[in-house]
Amino acid sequence: MTRVLVTGAAQGLGSEIARRLVAHGYEVVVHGRDAARTEVALAAAPGALGGVTGRLDSLASTRLLAADARGRGPYDLIVHNAALGPDQDRPVLTEDGIERITQVNVVAPYLLSALLSVPRRIVFLGSDSAFSGRPRVDLGVLEPWDGEQAYADSKLLLTMLAFEMAARHTDRPINVVHPGWVRTRMGGPRAALPISDGADSPVWMATSEEPVARRGGQYIHHRRAEDAPPAAHDAALREALIDRLIELTGEHLH
Ligand SMILES: NC(=O)c1ccc[n+]([C@@H]2O[C@H](COP(=O)([O-])OP(=O)(O)OC[C@H]3O[C@@H](n4cnc5c(N)ncnc54)[C@H](OP(=O)(O)O)[C@@H]3O)[C@@H](O)[C@H]2O)c1
Repeated sequence: MTRVLVTGAAQGLGSEIARRLVAHGYEVVVHGRDAARTEVALAAAPGALGGVTGRLDSLASTRLLAADARGRGPYDLIVHNAALGPDQDRPVLTEDGIERITQVNVVAPYLLSALLSVPRRIVFLGSDSAFSGRPRVDLGVLEPWDGEQAYADSKLLLTMLAFEMAARHTDRPINVVHPGWVRTRMGGPRAALPISDGADSPVWMATSEEPVARRGGQYIHHRRAEDAPPAAHDAALREALIDRLIELTGEHLH
């Protein structure tokens, strides 16, 4: 049996991905930010093995989530899906003093990756916004504030994290998947794709035994590897990012 953890599974792409992985016969553990959201995630994926709970905008809560998740692991596959979108008209500092988009989209997946054993496969939900992102490896607050830019930067940094993990574990498919512009809360009602289409590539990369899905270190769109943002290939920049993440979390990456 393949056991999988899907973060941010109470709505949107995460919910659809979890539901499909259950249908695929996987043992799915869904994640929600609090107990009520975890219940919503469980209700949306009938047959899921269980749920785990924790906020990604708090290092302490993310640590509790990792402990909860470890109790239901180990995982063969992790889908890092949860994220905050660009709709923030000002910077918001978390209780840890980190800007919230950066914490949820970059620091939290790093911390979970550091605190959980490395699965056989990882799918990071990325975005083509990463191409307009800037590799702000200091993880500081963007000034002047621009929510779209902060989101783009966070998705570039997440892509760099994924490529670093792929470089460290060349035997495992660790990849970034851009789902397209999808009609979710984040994508909005005018987005091009229904959720079912947006979930296609992430689910395929999670389940397929085709050669592309068995390789790592790729930026995937429409089930195909496309050129990744150049910063993802820059080992020195990636190292600087990991150093900063170690400094912020006190945890080392496997
Ligand atoms: N939709 C698009 O067009 C699009 C395009 C490119 C990439 N993506 C990526 O696809 C992924 C899924 O996006 P989506 O469109 O499905 O977004 P969504 O509908 O806004 O769902 C985001 C999920 O993340 C969870 N989340 C956000 N902040 C959290 C926090 N602080 N603690 C715990 N959970 C938190 C949300 O929980 P709640 O439900 O409790 O709020 C929700 O389950 C993201 O990584 C996104 O960047 C989406």
